[in-house]
Amino acid sequence: MVAKKPRIVVVGAGMAGLTAAHKLHAAGASSFDLCVVEAGDRIGGRIRSSEFAGVRVELGATWIHGIGGSPVYDIAQKVGALESTLPWELMDGFPEDPVTVAEGGYLVDPSLVSDITSFYRSLMDLARSGSVPILPGAAAASKLSVGAFLRQGLRAYRASRPRGPRDSAAAYRGGCWTLESLEDAVFTINENVERNDTSADELSGLDLAAEGEYRAFPGDQITIAQGYSQVIEHLASALPPGLIRLGKKVEKIEWVPHGSASAFDGDEPPVRIHFEDCTTMAADHVIVTVSLGVLKSAVRKDAAATGLFSPSLPPFKREVITRLGFGVVNKLFMELDGGDEGPARFPFLQLAFEEEPPSPRRVAKIPRWMRKTPSICPVYGGSRVLLAWFVGKEAMELESLGGDEIIRGVHAALDGFSAGPREANGGNGAVDERCAPGGWHAGGSKLVRVMKSAWGSDPLFLGSYSYVAVGSSGEDLDLMAEPLPRCHGGRGAPDGPRPLQILFAGEATHRTHYSTTHGAYFSGIREANRLLQHYNYSCSEV
Ligand SMILES: Cc1cc2nc3c(=O)[nH]c(=O)nc-3n(C[C@H](O)[C@H](O)[C@H](O)COP(=O)(O)OP(=O)(O)OC[C@H]3O[C@@H](n4cnc5c(N)ncnc54)[C@H](O)[C@@H]3O)c2cc1C
Ligand SMILES: *[C@@H]1O[C@H](CO)[C@@H](O)[C@H](O)[C@H]1NC(C)=O
Ligand SMILES: *[C@@H]1O[C@H](CO)[C@@H](O)[C@H](O)[C@H]1NC(C)=O
Repeated sequence: MVAKKPRIVVVGAGMAGLTAAHKLHAAGASSFDLCVVEAGDRIGGRIRSSEFAGVRVELGATWIHGIGGSPVYDIAQKVGALESTLPWELMDGFPEDPVTVAEGGYLVDPSLVSDITSFYRSLMDLARSGSVPILPGAAAASKLSVGAFLRQGLRAYRASRPRGPRDSAAAYRGGCWTLESLEDAVFTINENVERNDTSADELSGLDLAAEGEYRAFPGDQITIAQGYSQVIEHLASALPPGLIRLGKKVEKIEWVPHGSASAFDGDEPPVRIHFEDCTTMAADHVIVTVSLGVLKSAVRKDAAATGLFSPSLPPFKREVITRLGFGVVNKLFMELDGGDEGPARFPFLQLAFEEEPPSPRRVAKIPRWMRKTPSICPVYGGSRVLLAWFVGKEAMELESLGGDEIIRGVHAALDGFSAGPREANGGNGAVDERCAPGGWHAGGSKLVRVMKSAWGSDPLFLGSYSYVAVGSSGEDLDLMAEPLPRCHGGRGAPDGPRPLQILFAGEATHRTHYSTTHGAYFSGIREANRLLQHYNYSCSEV
């Protein structure tokens, strides 16, 4: 009699799920009964390429963060996805030479911007080196947040600088900018970029110690000319037709955490998956790749027995899922009105917002959800398509708005950053020479159309990517990856639970590359190898 093939079900057709399926199929095509179930009507998950106003753009993952050693880069290059005739987002690399403008239309001296930005970077380099010197009276590094560390650094920077007369003389009658408030605002731009990079709504909730564990690849950061989705298509194309099933939303995963002969017949697979469409599927192993946001929501519902797992996940798993951070980041693409004489060249515009609520005299009313946006930038030099990133509460608010309201809000911001009539701003002689008075004007740029992502409210994601929150640690990411049930007595104790019923992959399960596509990729390889090892396949090749 031929033994039944082990049945492996991968939940989720994003980078992690497809990588695991690809690896398992390549290593043991005929030995497993393999399938991928995806709730959505497309593959790719948080990778989603699109087109807007004739430009290839990404609604989700955008960059290959360092090409040296990146498996994503290797695939993109192998399939020839790095060249295209259609223009693509960031085709000329990361934008350089920002024009930094302070609210009210004040052009900020580039030397002030570069001083503060280099100082900010030196602080973050220190944090990432893992050897943060703790100032007297400060909390231990293990309890310190990135936010607290950065503000401590800024205070120390100020304290070490002799006060010049310029500081007090620099107040504008209209704009109220002083050297200090300008420095603060530029520092805040950098903090807002950090919020975006990590998805942490508040940097006071971002763990400092964990910064030292995060690893980046060396080399250029690039975008994928034919779209990030090409990498996903390549992984999927190696799988036989029908192996990936779209529109299959998992509602419950029943498993058998304790050894008990009566819980299942020795031959029956221990796991049963229930779908929204009322069908079920038996499995020996399930690789769960849903986002940390979806897991967080499941854990909250587990208490009410409406969650994803039955019985609910063990306490250690529920705790790490709760402790780790998962934030919302959204992208907004905006098409500029070309007018008759063609597009005006829009700069890489960095926005230095006033910290205090702006004076009521300001005509343009900038909505709150715009006030933490670090920059507005053409998707490549000279493009009529602009891009801005939104994080946390602002990103959620953006999701709730219609196109017209968004356009009104961005117009208000551009007006608020354009120099008003001269008499409103200057004329009293109290001018900071580091701010050319009323120097900048958005030049009547008008948007005609916008397109945005909405990762936070989408029930299949409930956010964008993970971060190590204050109170959690790198170790928690390892715990995320631990399969269930937790077997201490070695595999296959006669009356113990069946091993490796639920495995976990996805970006939030990788200790040093979390939040990225390559982190998701590595996690898929890891879980495929775990099963291959279990069934004694060689897994030396990755
Ligand atoms: C705006 C944004 C920008 C980003 N920028 C970058 C970047 O520049 N570089 C980078 O490396 N990374 C970036 N990332 C992160 C990157 O996209 C993710 O880390 C990676 O794609 C996650 O892959 P995954 O397989 O772990 O999860 P996912 O892609 O979320 O895959 C999980 C799949 O599970 C499915 N699913 C959910 N619930 C169920 C259910 N109940 N039943 C069945 N299926 C279900 C989902 O539909 C999804 O397809 C960005 C992400 C976002 C949102
Ligand atoms: C925001 O973060 C994403 C993901 O890391 C990155 O690709 C993007 O360049 C960032 N945007 C800004 C404005 O910093
Ligand atoms: C795998 O190999 C080990 C030792 O070589 C052996 O004891 C075990 O039974 C094997 N497992 C399977 C599933 O073949």
